[in-house]
Amino acid sequence: MSKKNIAVLVSGGGTNLQSILDAQDRGELGESRVTLVISSNPDAYALTRAANHGVPTQVLVRKDYPDIAAYSAAIRDALLAAKADLVVLAGFMTIIDEQVFEAFPYKIINIHPALIPSFCGKGYYGLRVHEAALKKGVKISGATVHFVIPECDAGPIILQKAVPVRDDDTPETLQKRIMAEAESELMPKAVRLFCEDRIVVKDGKTIIKKQEG
Ligand code: GAR
Repeated sequence: MSKKNIAVLVSGGGTNLQSILDAQDRGELGESRVTLVISSNPDAYALTRAANHGVPTQVLVRKDYPDIAAYSAAIRDALLAAKADLVVLAGFMTIIDEQVFEAFPYKIINIHPALIPSFCGKGYYGLRVHEAALKKGVKISGATVHFVIPECDAGPIILQKAVPVRDDDTPETLQKRIMAEAESELMPKAVRLFCEDRIVVKDGKTIIKKQEG
């Protein structure tokens, strides 16, 4: 497993960031390290989690830039300056454009709190995803980690895990269960697979290579 610089983009609580840092502490990522956390929100608790771990942080706020293109260029430049090998969107809630994705082809992964292709795409983020799942009455939901391509939530799927929906769920209880039972497992696992160079993209799909040895 080669040593990789991991950059994590956040906007909120940073539960997924924490699961990556915990995997790093357990030695699961080899010599790869989270070397930069970028937040689109200056008040994100994820920034505290990064600081507690001694990880450098940058805050890049959308309203400080005239448009999405200028904001995306700033994000891309920060990632290039950090020599990021892997970029993780971990609850990053601000729209960025293809400039970022084209600079890091199949090197950006995102976690989405539903079983893609359900409840995904533009406008489906955070609690809105769980509200839509409950409105439809699905009996299972879950989480998906996928590569990011310019089309929203449409990149090759890396890992998915299903979670049951209960009759008395609210968007908040469903979000909590999916984070605890699916996201907490999938996120560090996907980062580990990437760091081990075990994810191959072929014909718009991924194949996970078996562990060597
Ligand atoms: C997570 O549930 C993540 O799947 C979701 O936002 C939450 C962030 O929590 N992401 C999206 O909805 C992206 N479309 P966290 O900041 O505590 O990791």
